[in-house]
Order: sequence, then C-alpha cells, then structure tokens
Amino acid sequence: MTNSAAKIYIDRHRTIGEISPLLFGGFAEHMGRCIYEGIYDPASPHADETGLRRDVLAALREQQYTTIRYPGGNFLSGYNWLDGVGPQAQRPRRRELAWQSIETNQFGTNEFIDFCRLLETQPMLGVNMGTGTIQDAANLVEYCNAPMGTYYADLRASHGYREPHGVKYWCVGNEMDGPWQIGHLDVDEYARKAREAAKMMKWHDPSIKLISCGSSNDRMPTYPEWDRVTLETCWEHVDYHSMHYYAGNRDDDSPSYLASAAQFEAFVDTLSGTLRYVKAKRRSAKDVYLSWDEWQVWYKDTSGRGGWGEAPHLSEEMYNLEDALVVAQWLNVFLRKCDVLKIACVAQIVNVISWLHTTTDGLLKQTSFYPFMLMSTMARGHALDLLVQAPQHETKKYGPMPLLDVSASYDEATGTGAVFIVNRSQSEAVVTDLIWQSEVPQTVKEIWQLAGTDVKAANTWQQPDLTTAKQISAPALNDGTLTLNLPPLSFTAIQV
Ligand code: AHR
Repeated sequence: MTNSAAKIYIDRHRTIGEISPLLFGGFAEHMGRCIYEGIYDPASPHADETGLRRDVLAALREQQYTTIRYPGGNFLSGYNWLDGVGPQAQRPRRRELAWQSIETNQFGTNEFIDFCRLLETQPMLGVNMGTGTIQDAANLVEYCNAPMGTYYADLRASHGYREPHGVKYWCVGNEMDGPWQIGHLDVDEYARKAREAAKMMKWHDPSIKLISCGSSNDRMPTYPEWDRVTLETCWEHVDYHSMHYYAGNRDDDSPSYLASAAQFEAFVDTLSGTLRYVKAKRRSAKDVYLSWDEWQVWYKDTSGRGGWGEAPHLSEEMYNLEDALVVAQWLNVFLRKCDVLKIACVAQIVNVISWLHTTTDGLLKQTSFYPFMLMSTMARGHALDLLVQAPQHETKKYGPMPLLDVSASYDEATGTGAVFIVNRSQSEAVVTDLIWQSEVPQTVKEIWQLAGTDVKAANTWQQPDLTTAKQISAPALNDGTLTLNLPPLSFTAIQV
C-alpha cells in the first residue's frame, strides 16, 4: 500500500443548492419478494396484526426513507388499481405479465398508504400509462385525494378510509420508452397521453406534483430525444422528469466501476441541459426538476421471470464492498447535483435488487445498506461546492479520475455540517486535510467508516457483519484543519 495526500477546502457559504429531503427515497414494486415476504408477510413471526414485517419496518426506519414510490416499475403498466382495493377476500388473483408471476392483490393502495404512515414517509404513486387509460389515472387521484361525496371518494370511504389520503407525488407511467414495457408507446404517443392524463389528474387535485417518464437509461437509442420531446409536450403540466439507471461491474473492471460517478454526473448534466433548452424554447417561467426514481447496482442476478409463482425469488442481488462504494458515490452525486435533482428512489427497498434481504424470520443488511443510512441521516441543509485536490489514477472507461469522490452539506438551522468521502483506490491510502475556510467547526461530532481490503467482500447469512460501518475516533482539529488517513476502498462520513 502506498500513501498520497489530498486537500478538501470547505466553505459553508459556497453552496450548490438546497438538499431536497426527497433525495433519500425508496421504491417498492410488486416484483418477486419485495411486497410479499418483504414488506407484507403475515406468515412471519415478525408480522404485526396487519401482516407488515416489524423487523423490516425497523430497518427501513434506520434508513429514514423520505418517500416511497409504488407499485411499479414494469408491474405498473399492466396494473388495474381497482384489483388492489376493497375486502381482501374479494380481490382477484391475476397472472401478472411483467414478471410472469401470480399477483394475489392482498396488498394494494390502502395497505401501502398505511405502511407509509407507519414509516412517516411520503407515498409516491404511479398511474398506469400502458394498459391504463387517462380516465383510470384520474379515477385513482379521485379515489385517493377527493373528499367524500363522489363515486371514487365514496368507494375509498366504503373501504374504511373516510379521510382523503392526500397523496402529493405521482408518476405518470413507468419506462414508457422501453420496448419491454407492457403497452410501450413511441415518444409522441406517450407525450400526448401523459399530458392529457396530467391535465385530468391536476383538475382533480391541483396541489399534486407530477413526474413524467424520462429515459430508462443513457444507452436507450431514443435518449435524450425522448426526454426533449416529452418535456416540450408536457412542460406546463409536470413538475419533475424521471431518470432511471442500474450500474454494474459487468466487465469485471473494478477501477472503472469504482469511477461510476463520472457516468452518473454525465447523465444528470445531459438531462439538466435538456431541461434548460426546453424551458428556453417554451419561453417558460416555470421549472421542471429531475427525479432519479430508480437507481441501484444491478447486474449479478437479473432473473425477471417468475414461472407463474407467488412471490418468486427474483433479482435478489448480493452486494459487496465495491458495490457499496458505488452507492456512496451515487449519493455524493445527488448532493453535488441537488440544484436540479430533487427526488431519488433506490430500487428497491427490500429483497428485490435490495441491500435488505429477508427469510421468514431473518433479516440481512448488506454492505450498501450503510452508506445510504449514513448519508440519509447526516446530509441536511445545503450541499457545498468544494474544492478538492486529490491525486489521480487511470481508468479504462473514464481516463484519469481523482482517487477521492467527495460531497458535503451544511445545515444553517442546526449549525451541523457533514463531509462524505470515497477513496476509490484499491491500493493507496490518502492522507487528507479537510480545511474549513470559513467558520471552523468547534468539534468533530463523529466519524463513521466502511472499509475493507477485498472489493468482493460481501455480508452473507453466515457472516452478516463482515463489512459494516464502524465509528472511528476523531482526531483533534488543528488550526481549522482535520487530517484523516483514508484507507483504500473506503467510505468515510464525518459530522461536525
Ligand atoms: O426495478 C426493477 C425494474 O427495473 C422496474 O420494474 C423497471 O422500471 C426497471 O426496468
């Protein structure tokens, strides 16, 4: 191992933007064992009286999810929301085409709202733009948000919910640019359908916020034209535009994989440019922001066909140290781009492409659980525009990249700051000076670190705590400077 040196200059007055709390959101889809056996599992000894898993709820609380997107995903584009409301015994069993599974509909919109209330998180619902009509979309808004006195609001009341749910965030479809999507549309068809759905939805409730479907990833042949056309058509009717992306070390090239932040930033930059272009073209005074409402590492277990089983094991990805460091960089990018990126939802919150796995009576927290937990609990207020001077190394995919990937926040209200640093080097420890240029913090409150020597190290049911975040002792501040020796393959969260 070699040592090198870096400097991070921090000025709490040099800000990028306000950190939207909704950047720490999650996504729960009727896919595999996310809903059934994940969130809702009446057969588990951990289930409460409504069938929700108490141990899962506790782990989700640790992560402080601020919003949860539901019910899909590809599932959404074949879903009739009426199947999932009303007396459970009368709900239909259906063949679900997106994941080729049996959907029992025992968990639906109202169970999801109850789950969100327990977690104290904002529900984010999707409307079906595949097999669904704009009328179905409007009906769901009426069902959820209208006061009693009309058909769908009264239907909700007859299901035990007299008060409106007040759902604020709504996705107008899912990945409609993808040929794999049930009822896939070309861009003009989607843009017009989304605009017309949006009008009806907002006529029911003008306070709701709508998210149009953006590109499913930056490799789509229609990217970024899909985004331009959709935004030009829907601009005055939507508030956010979505982006989805799944990362992976598909070429077994860890140095490039560990530099994935470069790709994440480029994706945001292109869409941010598209937003600015459309705003100018439409001579609009209004802004639309980005919602990265599916993001995660996903490349090892991409199983997507359920063989017509109930809650089949699908895409139960196992995460290792390098995956956790990619997740930490992703979160750093969210902070560095928080002027335009306002919502983000990790896909998904349990079992499916998730850092949280269940058995009937067990729960496993994987490596990447920890960076999310640390950042969602520490990053508050404004993101800071840092000056980072770090040594570089060469990567095949992105050329020279700095060894350190860094973000920081400062919360005026509490006077608390945080700095988040990934050392992506596999061999070099980096002696790093954190230099506060204005208002030196009085104390370093705590420092947490996730580190290891093997990029492939993973937590397993046999060794569940192999790679976890540990608190490390904080050295004293020396004349406004904190010096840390950051080990290779590490993520460090510092709170001051
Ligand atoms: O999260 C799994 C799937 O990935 C979602 O259903 C879909 O939107 C995306 O392709």
